[in-house]
Amino acid sequence: MNQPDLYAKSNQITRTTIGDLLDKYIGLMRWQSDEKNVTILDIGCGDGGVLFDSLLPKLPQNFHKLYGIDISQEFLDYASKRNNDKRIVFEKFDIASNELPLKYCQQFDHAFSFYCLHWVADQKKAFENIYNMLKPGGDMMLAFLGIYPLFAIYEILAKTSKWSKYMYDFDKFISPYHHSRRPDVEMEHLLTRQGFISLECQAIPSLFTFETLISFIQLIKAVNPFISRLPEDEVDNYLDDFVGEVRQMKNFTIETDENGREGRIQMAYELLFVVASKPEDSQ
Ligand SMILES: C[S@@+](CC[C@H](N)C(=O)[O-])C[C@H]1O[C@@H](n2cnc3c(N)ncnc32)[C@H](O)[C@@H]1O
Repeated sequence: MNQPDLYAKSNQITRTTIGDLLDKYIGLMRWQSDEKNVTILDIGCGDGGVLFDSLLPKLPQNFHKLYGIDISQEFLDYASKRNNDKRIVFEKFDIASNELPLKYCQQFDHAFSFYCLHWVADQKKAFENIYNMLKPGGDMMLAFLGIYPLFAIYEILAKTSKWSKYMYDFDKFISPYHHSRRPDVEMEHLLTRQGFISLECQAIPSLFTFETLISFIQLIKAVNPFISRLPEDEVDNYLDDFVGEVRQMKNFTIETDENGREGRIQMAYELLFVVASKPEDSQ
């Protein structure tokens, strides 16, 4: 992901889904009566669209600080441009880093992370860091991809002679849970081993509708990590092959009008959703 502008224009999927999940589950998080001390973390905040448009309106309005962290400086710069609230700070940090800066240790009352953690191969380290970043009694809400049909297409195209040279490291870009039979059970184990108390841990079957093929292709261009490696004159060819796979997969339903023209595309996928807390008496 290296095009914040394109991502911001095409990420309707995360705004819609996260808005619904926040409405339904934010009440599970333990909000303190003294909001002025509350410090909040958004891990993998990206372009800031979800942070500003979906998360911020749901937070107590007197919070102390909101940190948006991301591994990509380009995305952080994009998010910062929109920011006119001094309490909101954007900082570069890899959530799977082996070194957790002291300034982040036990600093946060609430952590959120949306559509990010499937990018992280070292899940154990990421969850250890989040645990150590939370204050005792703090909590977190996470939503990220489990089974996702776009990952299945990466696997298919990466094995073709035409595209393999651009997609040699495709497995780095596939959710660690994409092939799991019970990602919710795996996740629950990870949470418990780390010391979290799990309040919700679900693999949610989800549907998203793209209004047009063009809006679907825009999302592919924004999130597909291989396109930037292709020679410019190969991009359309790659996208044609990509959409060709979409037409064959049962996770996609493409509506056609009476003239056979393709319209809305519905994609079925699985979202991993977690709400968990760090015990009060922990370190
Ligand atoms: C699909 S975007 C999601 C952005 C936003 N949370 C949303 O819901 O629209 C995923 C973001 O996670 C970031 N990311 C990926 N790996 C990360 C890591 N190890 N640590 C922190 N951020 C990471 C990417 O740079 C990207 O901005």
